[in-house]
Amino acid sequence: MRTHYCGQLEASLIGESVSVTGWVHRRRDHGGVIFIDLRDREGLLQVVFDPDRAEMFAAAERLRGEYVLQVKGTLRARPDGTVNPNMRTGEVELLADELVILNRSATPPFHHDETANEELRLRYRYLDLRRESMLGNLRLRHRVTRSMREHLDNAGFIDVETPMLTRATPEGARDYIVPSRTNPGKFFALPQSPQLFKQLLMMSGLDRYYQIVRCFRDEDLRADRQPEFTQLDIEMSFVDEAAVTGTMENMIRGIFKDVMNVDLPAEFPRMTYADAMHRYGSDKPDLRIPLELVDVSDLMASVEFKVFAGPANDKDGRVAALRLPNGNQLSRKDIDGYTDFVGRYGARGLAYIKVNELAKGHEGLQSPILKFLPAETIDGILERTGAADGDLIFFGADKSRIVNDALGALRVKLGEDRGLVAEGWAPLWVVDFPMFEWDSQGKRWSSLHHPFTAPKQDDPQVMRDNPGTVLSRAYDMVLNGSEIGGGSIRIHNQKMQAAVFELLDISDEEAEEKFGFLLKALEFGCPPHGGIAFGLDRLVMLMAGADSIRDVIAFPKTQTASCPLTNAPGEVSEAQLKETGIRIRTARTESN
Ligand code: AMO
Ligand code: AMP
Repeated sequence: MRTHYCGQLEASLIGESVSVTGWVHRRRDHGGVIFIDLRDREGLLQVVFDPDRAEMFAAAERLRGEYVLQVKGTLRARPDGTVNPNMRTGEVELLADELVILNRSATPPFHHDETANEELRLRYRYLDLRRESMLGNLRLRHRVTRSMREHLDNAGFIDVETPMLTRATPEGARDYIVPSRTNPGKFFALPQSPQLFKQLLMMSGLDRYYQIVRCFRDEDLRADRQPEFTQLDIEMSFVDEAAVTGTMENMIRGIFKDVMNVDLPAEFPRMTYADAMHRYGSDKPDLRIPLELVDVSDLMASVEFKVFAGPANDKDGRVAALRLPNGNQLSRKDIDGYTDFVGRYGARGLAYIKVNELAKGHEGLQSPILKFLPAETIDGILERTGAADGDLIFFGADKSRIVNDALGALRVKLGEDRGLVAEGWAPLWVVDFPMFEWDSQGKRWSSLHHPFTAPKQDDPQVMRDNPGTVLSRAYDMVLNGSEIGGGSIRIHNQKMQAAVFELLDISDEEAEEKFGFLLKALEFGCPPHGGIAFGLDRLVMLMAGADSIRDVIAFPKTQTASCPLTNAPGEVSEAQLKETGIRIRTARTESN
């Protein structure tokens, strides 16, 4: 039906007879001439209907937005003064000889409007995807996966599919479960990741595996999370950390070069988890922001101000300072706003010192807490934070977790609000994660990564004796403050795997029931192996500069994990329930 895409018609084709197809993007009537901007996936083309051709002109007058057309005609140069240098087709227009209306369109609920309500955009997703920026995101995603496959293929990786109907794969979220009709009362779980299968593939001798694979996690959603999302999942045999991270760095550098012509650093910096928490209050620091937390617990240990002295003397507490250059311009209202902001992370206040003029000594400072602090403590703070005239120093004092969360988030917020985020890309490996964290509610140890990650030392007994201090062989790739990938060297020794399950309070029976197949497989010659998984959606979101992960997924779910387009999840018939042996306990209308 077409000789060219609309968006491809350039000046070099002037004089040619062409046929194009597409949607009516806009119609303008000008002094007896009708202009249609015809749109296809490659862009817009100006089509001109001349009143000389009365019949066709009359048809053109009845065209409405989003009608689907075929237009044949001759490409000509636009008259002087009407050239649009911002468009690829801006020098040309198509003089229509023939118009076929292939289909009509109802009036769309919104018109190429990114500010339309998101629920409406998702309900009419096919219309939303007609927008250039959305199509652009999908095409970017395609270029990224194509580049990934090419790099991995060149590096000897083999693409293998793993089951979607499977058993629970513990990655820390709830499972989506699927009832089995042929085994009444039993359920499949959709995979949270292919973790166990890729490890089994290493035991099979596949050596280098990859898969671009859907994962399912029933967890609280945020701007960078979806209940179903896509991983680039990788596993390699006979490797250590350096082999995995080196191979992956090469791939990510290659993808950025191919897709965006961006040169990432020749070597990504590495930072320990402890350092990241200490300096940035986060295990995924955005290194584009030049602000850092500074520990002042020791300076506060003996002050009378309980708000600071309490956490300073608590082994789980922390008192930290965050210096904002030129921050003394912040108004009372700004500071109140930031106090509310850190409140969302559990902080009970946000003390500060404005550094107006150091030459005036403490007279040159302005703060609600000066009166609570001895002179030498104040001097210590100024020195340690490197305070200069014009600065503002914020303080957080609480359990370390709260201080890190609150000041870590404040650091990013200040960076954004104050225009301190440097241009460009800041990749980083975070390493030396703790193996376990103490879950004070459940009163048990849990894996920081997942239970198949190897500890840094090989003796199960040493690990049992010091679960809180053992480090793991895990690594995360962070890009501009976002965790885009995470992985580890795995346990390939059955005794160690059993010891980890034991520490996690997974009984022998439970381990046997849930992961017996893995423990069994470890008995049959498992090679040392390790791997990683990247969040494809997050990576593409960063590359696209999108605000939400939903903008790089064709048909995403809402914040409540539903789909306004198809109305999923939906109810099922009594017959289906019966077949799978399920009875709904609560009436569907009840909110509990
Ligand atoms: P992890 O759980 O860290 O590791 O997941 C890997 C990466 O997947 C992305 N990601 C998500 N993206 C969107 N929505 C979500 N709900 C979501 N959850 C995770 C993140 C994350 O870095 N099996 C291990 C990997 C391994 O050890 O090889 C795993 O799944 O970008
Ligand atoms: P108050 O004595 O409660 O009025 O607090 C004095 C100052 O300390 C105020 O600026 C509070 O915002 C701040 N503040 C109170 N609790 C904390 C805390 N846990 N961490 C940091 N600052 C705090």
